[in-house]
Amino acid sequence: MAAQRIGILTGGGDAPGLNGIIEAVVRSLSRQGVEVVGICDGFEGIFNRRTVVLDPARVSGAHCEAGTILGTSNKSGIAGREEEFRQCFASLGLDGLIAAGGDGTFAGLQKVVNGLKLIGVPKTIDNDLEGTEFTFGYDTACAVVAEAADALRATAEAHRRVMIVETMGRTAGWIALGGGLASYADVILLPERPFSRAKLAEFIRSKKADGRRGLIIVASEGAIAEKEEASIAFRVEGSPQAERFGGFSERLARWVEKECDWETRHVVLGHLQRSRPPTTTDRFLTLAMGVEVSRMVADSDWGKAVVYREGRIKRAPISDLMKPPKLVAPDHRFVQLAQALGIFI
Ligand code: F6P
Repeated sequence: MAAQRIGILTGGGDAPGLNGIIEAVVRSLSRQGVEVVGICDGFEGIFNRRTVVLDPARVSGAHCEAGTILGTSNKSGIAGREEEFRQCFASLGLDGLIAAGGDGTFAGLQKVVNGLKLIGVPKTIDNDLEGTEFTFGYDTACAVVAEAADALRATAEAHRRVMIVETMGRTAGWIALGGGLASYADVILLPERPFSRAKLAEFIRSKKADGRRGLIIVASEGAIAEKEEASIAFRVEGSPQAERFGGFSERLARWVEKECDWETRHVVLGHLQRSRPPTTTDRFLTLAMGVEVSRMVADSDWGKAVVYREGRIKRAPISDLMKPPKLVAPDHRFVQLAQALGIFI
């Protein structure tokens, strides 16, 4: 029997575009006569049976809003509560579940997936999910970084300073790389390419000697120097990825001042990278993914995820998304672009 009532939830950290997925799914599924039930606050909404019926009027215009109208959580997991999850889910009377989330969300669902009709939608601003070339939210995060780095050039040059812009991304440098390239940053520091402190100091000193008034460094929160550890600020117990990165750019600023005798300030962009209406690229990605999800429901094509590969939206096993984080290869073509521009990377 064709599905008549489908649940949708958003899990993990929010990402620009989640509301676009919701609006596209609700609009296209309602045209097939399928009722869509929004599950509030990620898995918590299943355990607490907190749901809301979504119809096109209710979601209209959501696509251009940041956040997620359903709420989300990157803390509440399923581990140890699998049977309770199955019972709670069954009590909702749903024919299937659409989950937009990251590896934590899918790893949680993996434990209860037996018999659960599931469609996955990959999501993270970090762009570090395997199985899909780009995740929505990534383009918006890069735009925030580029806008900030471009803007900070003015104060850097006014004061003859180095400005360091710290981006999110955990162990993956995609945001720093994308945002740093788009803003033609002078230096881009990534977790995947531990930098030599001696070479970085030499590069910065040479720019100063050339008479440059200001310098822009875009650094990932997980960036590391050779033979050093990433800068972990604190842990969030209960979160699938408990470590929270922080402190790298502040320490680097003091080091640049000392080693290069150049006054330096740092700016941590933090959650501004997530809490922003999606760019047109992210909107297009989410509307195309949302429509594909509705086609998968019509085809009863469960157990798969929508992914972006070779310029198209495709279907792939959810397990494709559940591999270790997709990192920037040291010689990735984006890295080569930076090198060709004379950026220190
Ligand atoms: O994974 C997405 C992400 O935004 C990371 O880039 C960042 O390190 C982390 O989440 C922040 O998590 P929280 O919202 O718990 O502070």
